[in-house]
Amino acid sequence: MAGPSAGPAAGPDGGTQASPPARVDLTFQPAGTRVRVPPGVTLFDAASWNGIAIDSTCGGHGTCKKCKVRIAAGSVPASALDARAFSPDELRAGWRLACRVITDSDLQVEVPPLVTRPKAATVGVGRQVILRPAAQKRYLELAEPSLSDQRTDLQRVLAALDDLELRTDLTVLRSIGSVLRSADYRVTAVIIDDVLIDVQPGDTTARLYGIAFDLGTTTVVATLLDLSTGTPVAVASMLNRQQPFGADVITRISAIMMDPARLGTLAGLAHETLAGLAAEVCAQAAVDPADVCEVALAGNATMTHIALGIDPEPLGVAPFIMAARHFPEVLAADLSLPVHPRGRAFVFPAFGAYVGGDITAGLLASGMDRDSRTRLFVDIGTNCEIVLGNRDWLLATAAPAGPAFEGAAIRCGMRAADGAIEVVSMTADSLSLRVIGDVEPAGLCGSGLVDAVASLVSVGLLDHSGRFVPEDDAAVIAPGLAGRLTRLGEERVFVLHWLGEPGDVARAIYLSQRDVRELQFAKAAIATGWNILLAEAGLAPGDIQQVLLAGSFGSYLSPANAIRLGLVPPLPVLRVVSAGNVAGEGAKMALLSVRERAGALALQEEVRYVELSDRADFNDAFVDQLQFPA
Ligand code: FES
Repeated sequence: MAGPSAGPAAGPDGGTQASPPARVDLTFQPAGTRVRVPPGVTLFDAASWNGIAIDSTCGGHGTCKKCKVRIAAGSVPASALDARAFSPDELRAGWRLACRVITDSDLQVEVPPLVTRPKAATVGVGRQVILRPAAQKRYLELAEPSLSDQRTDLQRVLAALDDLELRTDLTVLRSIGSVLRSADYRVTAVIIDDVLIDVQPGDTTARLYGIAFDLGTTTVVATLLDLSTGTPVAVASMLNRQQPFGADVITRISAIMMDPARLGTLAGLAHETLAGLAAEVCAQAAVDPADVCEVALAGNATMTHIALGIDPEPLGVAPFIMAARHFPEVLAADLSLPVHPRGRAFVFPAFGAYVGGDITAGLLASGMDRDSRTRLFVDIGTNCEIVLGNRDWLLATAAPAGPAFEGAAIRCGMRAADGAIEVVSMTADSLSLRVIGDVEPAGLCGSGLVDAVASLVSVGLLDHSGRFVPEDDAAVIAPGLAGRLTRLGEERVFVLHWLGEPGDVARAIYLSQRDVRELQFAKAAIATGWNILLAEAGLAPGDIQQVLLAGSFGSYLSPANAIRLGLVPPLPVLRVVSAGNVAGEGAKMALLSVRERAGALALQEEVRYVELSDRADFNDAFVDQLQFPA
């Protein structure tokens, strides 16, 4: 099968790079599993990224000395820790601790059977993540100082953590002395990556939490995770409090462009939303917020910029430039989060102004970069992000779908809330609706819109150009529905639900000819996006082995109707699956495993971004896609 390998590859910036990122080949025996990873990752990480379990109780921290493997082919120098874990004969025979082996050349590795079962959690799209959070707690019983042992308080703590190279700050030094003395030198060190953030009295190792945030333009979701078990202990969601400033990213950017002081206002509203959710999940699980040591934030580029207090204006105007793709170290306090005062925030990097950190997180959760199958990832919203590829190559783009799927720009449209018609099914004689909250319909949300249009095309009341058929034809084609095809003023409409008397169209919930056109524009933008990616890859739709519908809208969308309308390629329906809230899942993975986090960062090098807006073929392709498939 062809791949997008011809010619020099453009990097995520859209610039060219000489060659794809170099990989090393690793073969794990006895299974014979062959994997390719970027050089520089540890053997332990490479194995666990690819689902190969290596014994460990420390999760790769270099303290348990259980991750023993034998290098059967290739050369790896022995680390200082190897010399303590193995005899000289074993070292000569190639035994090494996998978490200390930095891969920079091809290797064959023998993995002994597991003695202990690694702690793992199932996250993302069926992904098994071996726990190795960046946050860790270590209980220490330290010797008291004496005239013969005058090490400083900090030296005493760091000496007990000599497998780590730690840095710390003034805040820790201000309290370390009193904590050590009041707790009889029995303390818990709180560490994030290579930073000692706290020394706490007694043993607090059982209390280590993180919060994964999916920072959406409309809805924000928080999941509180027990980082020592990988278990989600509470989940909460709320509308983004920036809502009064517009429904989509462009209106929020415009609000700031018109009054720069609003950046502070909108950042504050994002912080209020995040803080409110943090307090809620902690209260639900009776967790002290101070035991939340790390958070992960997955959001689109605009939401992320605003939350970090960075002016998003350059994202909203061509050539659509981000302040940065990767963000420097961010403290939870920078987001005004009421968690551990020295807690950290991992902020997902973005591919481009319109393929943001939420998509990086979603791709991480989907495992697209590690799967041999060619898959299409589609996250439908006002802006639709599309990624095509497999473990060897990935192409991404963003298509401006407009607000139709959010229920905006649709005459009777509404958000997916109580009263929204979310499912519509029809035969030539009947129509049935499912309404969120089982209440009287108040409007039509995105999934209901897709269902309604797909059903009308299927029964023949809408032709393939998207036009309602003449009334006389309707009476023949669908006698049980023809009475619903009527007019409101000059415009033709199809009534889904009579709120008042039958015939009182003005009070009814209906789909208008213009609504159908809005859907066609949105659908055509998305289909153009994936068609251009397929063309870039030299592939045909049938080469796609799976379509992942991501995001909250994707979860509610009927795969059959998405195919019917041409929103996704014409494939057997079982190949189109709902992937759920993958951005939130990716955020969880980043909290549970530094390896997965490194995988998210590596994606930045592996995905080539294809800009649609400057393509000469976009308009022709868009017009071709306006029709519904025959
Ligand atoms: S995984 Fe524990 S020492 Fe390597």
